[in-house]
Amino acid sequence: MESIYKSDVVVVGSGISGLMVAISLFPRKVTLVTKKKLGEVSSSAWAQGGIAAAVGNDDHPDIHFADTIKASSGLNNDEAVKLITSEALEIVQFLEKINIHFDKDEEKNFCLSIEAAHSRRRVLKINGDQSGKFIIKKLIKHAKKQDHITFVEDVSVDHIVQKDNACEGIVGHMNKPGVVDNFVFLQAPNVVLATGGIGSIYAYTTNPRDIYGEGVAMAARAGAKLSDMEFVQFHPTALDIGLDPAPLLTEAIRGEGAHIVDENYNRFMQTIHPDKELAPRDVVARAIFRERENGRSTFLDCRHFKPNSFQSLFPTAYEFLKKTKIDSTKDLIPIIPAAHYHMGGVKVDLTGQTSVKGLWACGETSSTGAHGANRLASNSLLEAFVFAKKIAEAINSKTIDQTKLEKINIENYFPKEKTISKIRAKKYIWQLRSNMTRNVGLERNNQSLNQAFIEFDRIERESKHLSAKLKDMILISRLITYAAIMRQESRGTHYRNDFAKIDNTFAFSNVFTIEDMNQYLLNKNFVEETNIA
Ligand code: SIN
Repeated sequence: MESIYKSDVVVVGSGISGLMVAISLFPRKVTLVTKKKLGEVSSSAWAQGGIAAAVGNDDHPDIHFADTIKASSGLNNDEAVKLITSEALEIVQFLEKINIHFDKDEEKNFCLSIEAAHSRRRVLKINGDQSGKFIIKKLIKHAKKQDHITFVEDVSVDHIVQKDNACEGIVGHMNKPGVVDNFVFLQAPNVVLATGGIGSIYAYTTNPRDIYGEGVAMAARAGAKLSDMEFVQFHPTALDIGLDPAPLLTEAIRGEGAHIVDENYNRFMQTIHPDKELAPRDVVARAIFRERENGRSTFLDCRHFKPNSFQSLFPTAYEFLKKTKIDSTKDLIPIIPAAHYHMGGVKVDLTGQTSVKGLWACGETSSTGAHGANRLASNSLLEAFVFAKKIAEAINSKTIDQTKLEKINIENYFPKEKTISKIRAKKYIWQLRSNMTRNVGLERNNQSLNQAFIEFDRIERESKHLSAKLKDMILISRLITYAAIMRQESRGTHYRNDFAKIDNTFAFSNVFTIEDMNQYLLNKNFVEETNIA
């Protein structure tokens, strides 16, 4: 059985990017499709940091621009950085207009916090560390009032439908328990992918479990160009209490003066970087990783905070700690670096257009070049808002006549064979995630990356009929590993201990297609290489 929806634009995903594109596309007819209920599978809703915007008296978009470039290790697209930093104020004004109000002091000035590698206080927040939660709630409320948007919930998307090399929509299936063959065809000449990042392909992540890069996988299969796939940002301070995903302890806690210590209370960041705990994220994450590799435990120390300040500034983190009986006024808080943000993704231009006609990508799914090799904290929500507007402007300026959409036989896109059970898939998914953390994590080298490829092949062989999720996760993992093999230097979040220095012969973004990777893999025999090593 199949259901068909026709519109001008299909938007996939209900995080900030998806909702904002859909809202801004007025008066186009939009179908917004989401895997669960609106906003449920969204990293944005979990964002504890806020939106970086140069709104302080001591700040200017040019300073924000310079900080972004400095943190990003030289791989930015300057024009994309200019765009997000110069349009930040306009975004904040738009949000306030639709009743999304940021924390302010008694004189109605924004309360600004500071995060790593920002030279100024410039992060706007809502209720301390609850920015994402409030923004998503308000955007959903606003979107639901818009007649131009049709919401299709509980549908997982599987394939981009193409005709004459142009997008014609998306095929997916209902996610209801017990429903097997309920296919959905969302037909439109424009598809916007806003499915978030890839965090859950790693064993430790701060992303929701369903964030594993299916948008990038679909775009890759449709032939879209990808960029910067090797750059995965690990957040230094996820709460290490065995939860999956690992709860985030926002960087703003360090902004308020928290220390990072080992079990002997040694503040090891003091000897690693002049900015200590507020050094760029990759530096802090790697330092913690190395401490742990050397058998030491790592903690956040907030015992010196003023009484009750932790609770009032960071209510989300406070609740997590309370549940696990950790008292920040007395106890050290165990931390671990966790996959947090993917700078890479589907390559887009300054209007969010991919290399496939009619296909657009927004937010973490895309690679705009705004983040280079290492994103500056709290620039991601900003990028999502700015580029969502750009995509909507670009699509709104086109002539679209969805009534001319032709009948397409979508049966070719339905799976022909039964896939493995969810329980078996879980086992292989866990093996894949552990493999990525071990071999393609904070430190990589030729041998570990080759080992990762061997593991992907084995998982694929043993699991036989892959579930759609496992298939996507393997593809994303391979694409990241391939990009990491190609970059024989260390830059930003990509650290190779066999090429430990930055090498300016690699000062360019790695842009490739799935076909380039497949050609490379065809010519390789990883087993032999690893045996020799
Ligand atoms: C954080 O609050 O530490 C995360 C902010 C971000 O990733 O931009």
